Amino acid sequence: MDYKKLAKSAIDARENAYVPYSKFKVGAAVVTEDGSIYTGCNIENASYGATNCAERTAIFKAVSEGHRKIKAIAIVGDMTTNTYPCGICRQVIAEFATEDIQIILVKNEDSYIIKTMEEILPGAFTKEDLFK
Ligand code: THU
Repeated sequence: MDYKKLAKSAIDARENAYVPYSKFKVGAAVVTEDGSIYTGCNIENASYGATNCAERTAIFKAVSEGHRKIKAIAIVGDMTTNTYPCGICRQVIAEFATEDIQIILVKNEDSYIIKTMEEILPGAFTKEDLFK
């Protein structure tokens, strides 16, 4: 996994963030099972609840292009700290995550930490719980 390249993709995607309300830009880049990369940014709305986070933008782009498994996701927020995905995004990541997904919390191109799904959403509710 080229972490630096992925971090750069997320940082570049962050530039397109539409954030007139929070001014908090977020970028994300996902890697699908076949190695394709999809990026996303947060897209806010005057009706605040209609806002879409960067992670979900990237994941939904990949899924809408036919992908079903994500083996990595890089996320970058204010670039001074490691930004963690929100609760809704953690659930959406879990839906499409490979067993060994790498969740890369990017501070900048040269600084990131890597988390597992279990670390960020222990005991996740998944389709296995629905269809037992
Ligand atoms: N945001 C994301 O895009 N991803 C997260 O995981 C955290 C929050 C966005 C939503 C909103 O546009 C802004 O950050 C402030 O909450």
